[in-house]
Amino acid sequence: MTDLHLGLAGVGRIGAMHAANLATTAGVGHLTLTDADPARARSVAAALTARGARVSVAAHAAALLRSGVDGLVVATGTATHPELIRAGVEAGVPVLCEKPVAPDVALSLPVLEHVAERGGVVRIGHQRRHDAGYREAKRAFESGELGWLHAVRAVTCDAAPPPVAFLATSGGLFRDCSVHDFDVLRWITGREVVEVYARGSNNGDPEIGRVGDVDTALAVCTLDDGTLAVVTASRYNGAGHDVRLELQGSRGTVLVGMDGAMAVRSAEPGVPFPAGPPHATFAERFAAAYRAEVAAFVELVEGTGGEDLCRPQDAVAASRVADAAQESLRTGAPVAVRALEVSAV
Ligand SMILES: NC(=O)c1ccc[n+]([C@@H]2O[C@H](COP(=O)([O-])OP(=O)(O)OC[C@H]3O[C@@H](n4cnc5c(N)ncnc54)[C@H](O)[C@@H]3O)[C@@H](O)[C@H]2O)c1
Repeated sequence: MTDLHLGLAGVGRIGAMHAANLATTAGVGHLTLTDADPARARSVAAALTARGARVSVAAHAAALLRSGVDGLVVATGTATHPELIRAGVEAGVPVLCEKPVAPDVALSLPVLEHVAERGGVVRIGHQRRHDAGYREAKRAFESGELGWLHAVRAVTCDAAPPPVAFLATSGGLFRDCSVHDFDVLRWITGREVVEVYARGSNNGDPEIGRVGDVDTALAVCTLDDGTLAVVTASRYNGAGHDVRLELQGSRGTVLVGMDGAMAVRSAEPGVPFPAGPPHATFAERFAAAYRAEVAAFVELVEGTGGEDLCRPQDAVAASRVADAAQESLRTGAPVAVRALEVSAV
């Protein structure tokens, strides 16, 4: 058992959860946090210290990296990911950065090049790769028991929108939300998305439209073997946090997310399933996956595992699909997705 010192930049919505998970992950002995809002970093550190964890606060990311951390987790706003990934690579430590690598693909490519040039060890947070249901769906498809896929349907719906200030910097619903489904499409099928046709709507808070986003969207994706996939997302799913993936094949069908807390009710008389209460938030729905993800990163730092973590070129390939979806939303026309030409990192 090692006694790692890990750094975490950004302790907002998701960073505070990563901090709590890291503080209780086997192998982590010391955590140093930093946040652009120092009071927030102090408050998260105090709460974890009160629960018996060893947690320090650094004034900024450079000071955190100088404190001799063994690895860096980045959970700041998307615009700061490139500089913090670079800083971690320059410091010679493995980095787990929340998705995406950068606000768009054009800004991501120089980061990939830098990581490749310096031999950096960087992984990107796509927690569905660590979720038991998505992993079983991948196994079922790869084993051949589903046959060939005639339809893939991915759903990601929040019960309520995040703050409009966050949406203004999120890059759009496809980049912020559906990018997880685009990653899963590639990861499970092993195929590339070659074309996207997207539509969106704004029937909720008009402020979301004013900051340039849609509150609901749908993308029809064509994979390079002709398989069709539909990816939908909404910020206004009053039934609860609804995340599903249906792989419908020539020999069988699996549905990720069909648990007792699935945020739907059957319209059939006398069918009580699912019994609820429904999933409320992404943090609750994926609680185990987020824990498994940081545990995998700790194994990567220790040199004992972490193979399932998402590599940056795969995260950027998913972002390329999200960019195409945003472009299709803007133009109203189908958009071809160009293959990613980068050296492996
Ligand atoms: N994997 C997932 O399921 C998932 C879910 C939510 C968010 N995210 C990603 O996580 C990132 C953060 O999202 P969030 O919702 O937690 O945002 P947030 O705004 O709640 O938190 C971001 C935090 O980073 C801090 N910060 C900003 N710049 C910083 C810097 N240079 N150094 C240190 N701290 C800095 C802010 O003060 C804030 O506390 C985004 O990139 C988002 O795409 C991923």
